[in-house]
Amino acid sequence: MKNILSPSILSADFGHLADVLASIETAGADWVHIDVMDGHFVPNLTMGAFIVKHCRTATSLPLDIHLMVEHPERLIEDFAEAGADRLTIHTEASPNTHRTVQAIHALGLKAGVAVNPGTPALALKPLIGIADQFLIMTVNPGYSGQAFIPEMLPKVRKLRGWLEEAGLETDIQVDGGIGPDTLPQTKEAGANVFVAASAIFKHPEGSTAGIRELKALL
Ligand code: DX5
Ligand code: ZN
Repeated sequence: MKNILSPSILSADFGHLADVLASIETAGADWVHIDVMDGHFVPNLTMGAFIVKHCRTATSLPLDIHLMVEHPERLIEDFAEAGADRLTIHTEASPNTHRTVQAIHALGLKAGVAVNPGTPALALKPLIGIADQFLIMTVNPGYSGQAFIPEMLPKVRKLRGWLEEAGLETDIQVDGGIGPDTLPQTKEAGANVFVAASAIFKHPEGSTAGIRELKALL
């Protein structure tokens, strides 16, 4: 199983998005994590498919879209057309997670399923062997710069255990408060895809230093 660093551009300088993407690619980012928020599923409102389209022209890195929106099934075609590679939806966002995973696959994309801190790992169990990646939120979604919730570590461990029992190497992402102190704990618990915004884009020496620091821990 490969360890992946997926910078979340939520904390990047959007006035220079193309430069940001070029520089994180050069620095060694593996994927680009794009946080889509609708102001309903989470309090914040961020970006839509057209930003993904611009990102697609500015980088060749896989675009990993985190849909924090109600009824994500309404939007997946737009994101596929915009050039997304991976779409992650939340179990809490609609009653038909399994159906939406099938629809994402039918569009030829990788499908991920996420849970909020208040949702048990059990919500992901029926998707084992079906979803391409799982996302355990390590903060309540909505904003970057929040503190890591350590109680999520047993959830990661439990899910990795189930995947191992099934003989699968499905990716487990962690997202929220991931930095030099917390990344190693989540890795030890079984995560292999690490999303970080503040630790990279608010790094005192710049995003390249932030990426190098985290990549050294993978
Ligand atoms: C939170 C988003 C995250 C966020 C992470 O709702 O899903 O991807 O940008 O930010 P940090 O790394 O600052 O916690
Ligand atoms: Zn995210």
